[in-house]
Amino acid sequence: MPAIVIIGAQWGDEGKGKATDLLGSRIDYVVKFNGGNNAGHTVVVGNEKYALHLLPSGILTEGVTPVIANGVVVDIEVLFEELDALTARGVDVSRLKVSSNAHVITQYHRTLDKVTERFLGKRQIGTTGRGIGPTYADKINRVGIRIQDLFDENILRQKVEAALDQKNHLLVKIYNRRAITVDEIVADLLSYADRLRPMVADTSLLLHEALEAGKHVLFEGGQATMLDVDHGTYPFVTSSNSTAGGAATGSGIGPNRIERVIAVVKAYTTRVGAGPFPTELFDESGEWLRARGFEFGTTTGRPRRTGWYDAPIARYSSRINGVTDFVLTKLDTLTGLETIPVCVAYDVDGVRHDEVPASQSDFHHAVPIYQNFPGWSEDISGVRRFEDLPKNAQDYVTALEAMSGSRISAIGVGPGREAIVVRHDLLD
Ligand code: IMP
Repeated sequence: MPAIVIIGAQWGDEGKGKATDLLGSRIDYVVKFNGGNNAGHTVVVGNEKYALHLLPSGILTEGVTPVIANGVVVDIEVLFEELDALTARGVDVSRLKVSSNAHVITQYHRTLDKVTERFLGKRQIGTTGRGIGPTYADKINRVGIRIQDLFDENILRQKVEAALDQKNHLLVKIYNRRAITVDEIVADLLSYADRLRPMVADTSLLLHEALEAGKHVLFEGGQATMLDVDHGTYPFVTSSNSTAGGAATGSGIGPNRIERVIAVVKAYTTRVGAGPFPTELFDESGEWLRARGFEFGTTTGRPRRTGWYDAPIARYSSRINGVTDFVLTKLDTLTGLETIPVCVAYDVDGVRHDEVPASQSDFHHAVPIYQNFPGWSEDISGVRRFEDLPKNAQDYVTALEAMSGSRISAIGVGPGREAIVVRHDLLD
């Protein structure tokens, strides 16, 4: 089974790094195919905690080749900072490969991200401010800078000129900021070229050859299904395809290579940034989930919005991504609750909707219809077999499975790599 995709089923921060770890030594390549340093994986190895934003989490596993593919937007300064920080902690990062077609986040993208958010006022998206949206906008507008442009000064200068031409008008006349010069951007980008050159590769060809040779290639989605630019809660989304289909376009492999799609889903729901969130809690239960689940952003440190599990969203994810297996994370966070509500459908202006409504306005009006499940109080963090979970925890998982559209193959019961209950082998 050569190509496997891991994506988030909700609004991100489901704990995808943990699912990646579960596949561990059987994976040869870990590919990031969308997003940039807006992501945040926290990976705990032994007593060490690593927070990665741009690099694929597979960089921490010895023997794995990490790949940043064409669908990613790369802030090169951040890339080097993350590589240096890992090297200082003894991690071997020498195998990293970066696609020559990936787009580059520059200073003007970061600036535009921040000023446009400010100008949106109450309507702002709550972006991470890392320049992600403006970089993807340039890519689609065909005025982007790609990694390969850094190796031809002449071409680079022409492209930066074309990009800045319009943007300086915007920055100066609309946003009241200073103009950015072509020279400063070109000098900045060229200063990265020598260090970057050995990492750059034709990653589509590299992955093709790996798959032909029967290697295991894991495609790790940044963000999550409900933040996908096409299938998420638009416009409160990120600017890339974070669903499973993005793995093919974002890396240059054929879609029929993908044999397994693993969706990571939290036992409750969180969201950072603005946008609809039907099961959001504004009372002490929401505070309780935030505190118990340490729900603060890895990238921005913002407190995450919290709410109960939303089964229609899980079913939607299952459908959009072609999910073969769910990994349910953070079940232990719910320990101690007397009852656990689960959203089974929505009431939209008096009409029951069993599926995620196709209309944005309907989704904004969706009021959850809950079913209550009895909780458990036993510490489950040491449990490794499903049968050893408290009966109510088992029933909670089986009920979610029946509502969510695909089997739940593994269950996270604590923060450590080993704190997981496996029901079905993810590579079987
Ligand atoms: P952007 O990706 O910075 O443009 O932000 C767009 C939206 O996606 C905002 O609501 C962010 O909070 C959200 N977002 C981006 N990356 C992540 C992530 O890794 N986890 C959760 N939310 C994210």
